[in-house]
Amino acid sequence: MPKIEIMSEEDMQKKFLLLNGDSKNVLKDFPDDCIHTVVTSPPYWQLRDYFADDQLGQEKTPEEYVKNLVGILKEVKRVLRKDGSLWLNIGDGYNNSSGFERTTDWKRKGRKGGSSDKKAFKHKTIKTKELIGMPWRVAFALQEDGWYLRCDIIWEKTNPMPDGVKDRPTRGHEYVFLLTKSPRYYYDYYRVLEDTEKQPEQIQGFGANEQEGTYRQDQERTFEHYGKRNRRSVWRTSVSSFKGKHFATYPPKLIEPMIMATTSEKGCCVDCGTPWFRKFEKVKKPADNKKGHTLELVDLGFYKGCKCKTDEVKRCLVLDPFNGSGTTGIVSFKYDQNYVGIDTSQKYLDIARDNIMGGKKTEDYSLVFKEVLTIEEII
Ligand SMILES: C[S@@+](CC[C@H](N)C(=O)[O-])C[C@H]1O[C@@H](n2cnc3c(N)ncnc32)[C@H](O)[C@@H]1O
Repeated sequence: MPKIEIMSEEDMQKKFLLLNGDSKNVLKDFPDDCIHTVVTSPPYWQLRDYFADDQLGQEKTPEEYVKNLVGILKEVKRVLRKDGSLWLNIGDGYNNSSGFERTTDWKRKGRKGGSSDKKAFKHKTIKTKELIGMPWRVAFALQEDGWYLRCDIIWEKTNPMPDGVKDRPTRGHEYVFLLTKSPRYYYDYYRVLEDTEKQPEQIQGFGANEQEGTYRQDQERTFEHYGKRNRRSVWRTSVSSFKGKHFATYPPKLIEPMIMATTSEKGCCVDCGTPWFRKFEKVKKPADNKKGHTLELVDLGFYKGCKCKTDEVKRCLVLDPFNGSGTTGIVSFKYDQNYVGIDTSQKYLDIARDNIMGGKKTEDYSLVFKEVLTIEEII
């Protein structure tokens, strides 16, 4: 008889914790190694004033901005589990005499939220009209600070704002960096595979008649094709439509693969928090024409990643240290994980709470979501 698992009301509740303040200070109250994944987008340098004393982004120089952001992320690194990861979305800008030429058009409708209108700044290397290169300045500084820079993802915007320039291409992308605390970390490769329709002749070195599984001695490799492939590093998504409450939200679609890849669908050990990992294998199947074989990736289910005695699981914990309107929380809940968001603005935390609760607080919603008040209640 299969074991029937009955979830208690408490088990069904997705927990969230919203904390007000500067992330660097707020995180000091968190224990080490308690967060499974961090998905975030900090305020971009000199783009917008969020009217808080301890906000990031108002620094006078790019160097000061990088230093402050690395300082906050140092604290993030401490609270991140050793098998955890950080997805950092960060935009760039130009040093223009007519004011900064912003490339962060997904934030375009929020100007009244305090867009800065500054003159070109003086800098020892960044000349007027130059691209600042902020994402890479931050990425290299994080590398210096001990993070493992694992991937640069290009967020290709399907609807970038035309910028009217005639002496360079219009920028239609932003960066997302995948950074980790250790060289080995939790990543569900299988869950974020993407579809491919590549035919053999399009795959270098293999002819149209070659079967999946064909080994080419001259190439020393086997042709493998199972309609899926490892996710690529260019992600195409439209810019979020602005809903009038927060000025700088990223699109949920952009961050879905991040949560899917770096939290466990099964959950994590209730005792030590180690995520259960998915096993899969390539299975050979005879091809229809009896020549060669086809390959299929088969999901073998979840396995315990630790040696704890219990098989009980709980949800993984996602953190956004720059919570804004709570998009990261909403996507975390969609994939059945718990969430912690921090923001210097109480106003944005209130917006996030409403967004998380679906805008209305009915009895049903309070059954699904439980707001907790301390980190101890959610880890
Ligand atoms: C780009 S927005 C994040 C938007 C969010 N990803 C979303 O989809 O709604 C950055 C947020 O960081 C907050 N912020 C700025 N400095 C901060 C700090 N030092 N600690 C915590 N939050 C901060 C701002 O108030 C703002 O809401």
